[in-house]
Amino acid sequence: MDILLLESPRWQDYELLDSGNGLKLERFGGYRFVRPEAQAIWSRALSETIWREADAVFSPTNEESGGHWEVRKKLRDRWEMRYPLPGVAPLKCWATTTPGRHLGVFPECAATWDWMAEKIITAERPVKVLNLFGYTGLASLSAASAGATVTHVDASKKSVGWASENQQLSGLGAKPIRWIVDDALKFVQREARRGAQYDGICLDPPKFGRGPKGEVWEVYQSLPTLLEACREVLSPSPLFMVLTMYAVKASGVHLYATLEELMRKYKGSVQAGELVTRETSAQRLLSQAVFGRWSAA
Ligand SMILES: C[S@@+](CC[C@H](N)C(=O)[O-])C[C@H]1O[C@@H](n2cnc3c(N)ncnc32)[C@H](O)[C@@H]1O
Repeated sequence: MDILLLESPRWQDYELLDSGNGLKLERFGGYRFVRPEAQAIWSRALSETIWREADAVFSPTNEESGGHWEVRKKLRDRWEMRYPLPGVAPLKCWATTTPGRHLGVFPECAATWDWMAEKIITAERPVKVLNLFGYTGLASLSAASAGATVTHVDASKKSVGWASENQQLSGLGAKPIRWIVDDALKFVQREARRGAQYDGICLDPPKFGRGPKGEVWEVYQSLPTLLEACREVLSPSPLFMVLTMYAVKASGVHLYATLEELMRKYKGSVQAGELVTRETSAQRLLSQAVFGRWSAA
């Protein structure tokens, strides 16, 4: 089994500038941010002066979530970021500081957006994609701009609204995307009962979450049931299945075995590894998430 480290080197509007002493210095568009980064047990490569020039710093209250932004220079309420997806027009999204330390886009996921777009374009057939836990929609926009019909599901009405604004911003308003506020598991189980079918499924489940009616999502307990439900909505000749996990005790090795078992009856291959970002200062790699992905042979 080859374990892959997937970088997203095409970004121009995002950069991991430096890391060290438990922090990372990043650029999102024209602004620089300091956020906690537990892996950065090494020292910083850039000077104290450069770090001090950051526009905002996130101070956490604990490691999981919570904290606040200390804004040092005036930031626009939100600003545009663009990602140059190969072969199609660039994706665009709104970025802003959020209470959960994120900025509305997970830049390292771009490796997955590229991969899905490539699978859809080269399939040369109509493709239906299901994007679960879709957040602000970049994976959905990538699939839609490559020509797929997309169903995007997230429990947060705010995130789904943000995703549909990103669709307009990207000039993809005419593309077929269904925006759905629902609990991921309930939605897939309902789709299975209705006989719905998808050629590609993308899932980026959090460790903990809640559906819109308070449904509890706990990754270790809920994921096996969700994956079984996903298998029931696969079309007879599926194209891909991609699973990303942040902040969980899992490795690419586990995701490899899970997908290999789930997709056993189909002809295809599994890859697994980590989504990584390379800092521009000293070229050190930070691991952001583990992923597993299956695609038709
Ligand atoms: C890790 S984020 C997804 C990151 C995103 N895919 C990206 O690449 O930028 C997790 C998302 O899951 C959603 N979520 C949490 N619990 C959920 C549930 N039970 N059903 C559906 N979505 C849920 C959250 O609202 C959040 O948008």
